[in-house]
Amino acid sequence: MITEKRVDIQVNGQACEITVPAWRTLLEVLRELGHKEVKCGCEKGDCGACAVLLDGKVVDSCLTLAWNAAGRSVTTVQGLGGPDNAHPLQTAFIEHGSAQCGYCTPGMIMAAKALLDDIPEPSLKDIKRGLSGNLCRCTGYTRIFSAIQAAAETLRQQETTS
Ligand code: FES
Ligand code: FES
Repeated sequence: MITEKRVDIQVNGQACEITVPAWRTLLEVLRELGHKEVKCGCEKGDCGACAVLLDGKVVDSCLTLAWNAAGRSVTTVQGLGGPDNAHPLQTAFIEHGSAQCGYCTPGMIMAAKALLDDIPEPSLKDIKRGLSGNLCRCTGYTRIFSAIQAAAETLRQQETTS
């Protein structure tokens, strides 16, 4: 029985080839690769802190086996942008004070990215539904929802001017 194999995963556009046992989660592998921006909360699919995009769809990386990511593309919050090229969601989270301890923020932003890719003009209900797998102990959610609405507007403006 094969218990370990080499898998290649694209992480934020960079090819990574790693040998992993069958039981290792994508979350564990990403953090071992240095992607500490992917947070480990509950490790059972309850909190969404570990959310990343896998081929553009949001997944809880703690519930995804690394083997299932073989040959696929993973995007973490770091892959969206950074201080010099922030994504509108990242900018809006800062401007709206949507992070307090910040532990939920990477997962929140990735869930929001997937939502806005699907629904560019979301209602508040859409936003609540899109983030229903992500928990925040600090903010009370209102500022997070406002940031997502603002980012959606910015992205729509960018779309019309491009
Ligand atoms: S750490 Fe993955 S959902 Fe909580
Ligand atoms: S900002 Fe602390 S858990 Fe969300």
